[in-house]
Amino acid sequence: MTYMPVDGKPDRVHVGARALNLDDWIEINQDYEAYVAYKQELLSTKHDEVFVSLPMGDHGSCEVLALMREHLPRVFPQRWPTGVPVDESRHPLEAASLLVQEDLSLMTQVGTDWVLSAASLCFPSRWDVRDKIGKNLVGIHAPVPHYEEKIGTATQNLFDKLTVERPIWRVNWTVMDSGELHQPTAPRGPDAMQLSSENIEQALHFRRERQTLRKLPESGDILFTIRTYTDPFATVVEQFPEFRRNIGSTIAGASPQTADYKGWVKILNDLQAWSQA
Ligand code: HEM
Repeated sequence: MTYMPVDGKPDRVHVGARALNLDDWIEINQDYEAYVAYKQELLSTKHDEVFVSLPMGDHGSCEVLALMREHLPRVFPQRWPTGVPVDESRHPLEAASLLVQEDLSLMTQVGTDWVLSAASLCFPSRWDVRDKIGKNLVGIHAPVPHYEEKIGTATQNLFDKLTVERPIWRVNWTVMDSGELHQPTAPRGPDAMQLSSENIEQALHFRRERQTLRKLPESGDILFTIRTYTDPFATVVEQFPEFRRNIGSTIAGASPQTADYKGWVKILNDLQAWSQA
């Protein structure tokens, strides 16, 4: 487990972007086969729920596939000694997404807005990609409390100023009552989560999204990758014992709107008790 974004400080909506070394663009671990097989299943059984595209995203999508074809054998020569196999019958962004564990979203500039123009999104955290296609950054983030007032302008600026040479990455996280990767439409809100088990360490899951943003040289589109990691609390505390204390104070510091949005309201008391025990 690599990412530990919880440090005990009160939870705040923030951008937290860092420079990305392009060799670290894609992450592959021991779960590679399982993630890709799950994507294959979702793309065949629920295609229109996990893949969306508009014609304006076609150029950027071809570019993403070409970048993957170059990047993957170069950075992971043991896995791909003779190049990557590509399913040419699929949309290029879908074909690219089947090569990696990341979900892929493409943003295209329309006037001053950055608009979601294509996405292969098998592992959403309780949202539906069909609601987001064609929307700009503010529209996509409409349900996120404090987004527009706190980080709307900073995020827009980040997109406007992103260059091909200087990609970035950031981490988002949440606590969920399930370790399921594919969580498309489960409602978010105060009633979203109930603890059915007294064993918090098995019942609650720490979900992180490692996200990267990379400007594409030809189309000028921006590719947003989301790599989802999820582990039960038990696994997290094995590696990061301080997580137990920190998660309580971080979540206690979240605004009521954020606690509602993330579905934490009904687990707060039990979580605090566990954290302080
Ligand atoms: C630097 C860029 C970005 C920042 C700072 C940012 C920030 C955030 C934050 C703080 C949340 C709240 C979620 C949570 O904490 O669990 C969120 C949710 C979300 N973000 Fe972003 N985001 C960025 C880029 C994008 C892009 C490019 C997309 C395009 C697909 C996107 C799609 C979403 C969606 C769909 C949600 C969930 C919204 C919902 O509940 O309906 N984000 N984002």
